[in-house]
Amino acid sequence: MEPLQKFSFLIIIFFAILSPSFSDRCNPEDKKVLLKIKKALHNPYHLASWNPEVDCCIWYSLKCSRTTNRVYKLTIFAGQINGQIPAEVGDLPFLETLMFHKLTNITGPVQPAIAKLTNLKYLDLSWNHLSGPVPDFLSQLKNLIFLDLSFNQLSGSIPSSLSTLPNLTSIRLDRNNLTGQIPMSFGSFAGEFPYLILSHNKLSGSIPASLGKKDFGNLDLSRNRLEGDASMVFNSKTRWIDLSRNLLEFDFSKVELSENLTWLDLNHNKITGSLPESAIVSLQFLNVSYNRLCGEIPVGGDLQRFDYTAYFHNRCLCGAPLPPCK
Ligand SMILES: *[C@@H]1O[C@H](CO)[C@@H](O)[C@H](O)[C@H]1NC(C)=O
Ligand SMILES: *[C@@H]1O[C@H](CO)[C@@H](O)[C@H](O)[C@H]1NC(C)=O
Ligand SMILES: *[C@@H]1O[C@H](CO)[C@@H](O)[C@H](O)[C@H]1NC(C)=O
Ligand SMILES: *[C@@H]1O[C@H](CO)[C@@H](O)[C@H](O)[C@H]1NC(C)=O
Ligand SMILES: *[C@@H]1O[C@H](CO)[C@@H](O)[C@H](O)[C@H]1NC(C)=O
Repeated sequence: MEPLQKFSFLIIIFFAILSPSFSDRCNPEDKKVLLKIKKALHNPYHLASWNPEVDCCIWYSLKCSRTTNRVYKLTIFAGQINGQIPAEVGDLPFLETLMFHKLTNITGPVQPAIAKLTNLKYLDLSWNHLSGPVPDFLSQLKNLIFLDLSFNQLSGSIPSSLSTLPNLTSIRLDRNNLTGQIPMSFGSFAGEFPYLILSHNKLSGSIPASLGKKDFGNLDLSRNRLEGDASMVFNSKTRWIDLSRNLLEFDFSKVELSENLTWLDLNHNKITGSLPESAIVSLQFLNVSYNRLCGEIPVGGDLQRFDYTAYFHNRCLCGAPLPPCK
């Protein structure tokens, strides 16, 4: 190295060590907000890397964009953290992913300030102790793709406005304390819809007919208090259907199962009729136990390979793997 080059090199090193902010990528506004979030969460050990002396873009649990240097991902999970989701999360305007997941004691409502995060695509607040409603303001987050509020103590009914989100492809609201009906609008989501998971709640009333018009990857409405007809869901090309442990009552003989359906659990309902011949075509898992079915199990496909418990506790279902019909 030439002496002058060497000198300027040393100067740079000197400043880099002496003043950490010299090389900070972190946006000062974001840093201020993040430190407020840390304080609101009672300075947990989990956020020990959030040291004000250090560039916030190298702190754990977040990511800065390479182009804007703004924080676009905040993913706080699997830690011992107490408190409510701080309102300051709403002051990270570039956030696309917000996750507070599986923290020991996150309580209170789904933070209303989240409504300000209009760039949000992924919102995961699952496995906490959140209470209050699934808020209507979520339908203002027009870029939302993925919503997971599962495993909380949310109550009240599901806002039908969620179906207006143009890019939403997955909703998980399972394992909460939700009541009321499944919104009629839920058959009219715009795009492909891999996941609609509403199981383990207290949803009641009948399944909206519109759900039969939408092809889901995975439709799980199990362990609720849904009643009446469910035959419409078989009009779709949904691949995975779990309606078990409800109060559903319809004639299974009249149903035509699509070739796309590979997984079907209907146990613990009040379903009558007999198994349709179309069950032979594509099912790789079936459980119709604890219903009111009758008649011979169609022979073919995987139907004889399933354990007898897939069929037991029906009115008069018979044939392999159950005892032969009389
Ligand atoms: C959890 O948080 C609530 C309120 O924020 C508090 O009352 C409670 O004591 C906390 N529980 C534990 C186990 O830390
Ligand atoms: C939805 O997704 C499309 C395609 O990825 C994108 O162009 C659009 O900006 C997104 N947001 C809204 C509100 O449509
Ligand atoms: C669910 O809601 C009922 C009232 O509707 C309440 O009594 C119960 O404690 C709630 N359960 C949970 C786990 O929050
Ligand atoms: C249904 O199955 C057919 C044939 O396997 C396939 O071409 C089609 O893409 C599937 N549709 C859906 C919505 O999965
Ligand atoms: C079917 O469901 C019943 C009731 O939950 C259960 O006891 C049985 O083991 C299940 N059988 C199969 C094959 O899934």
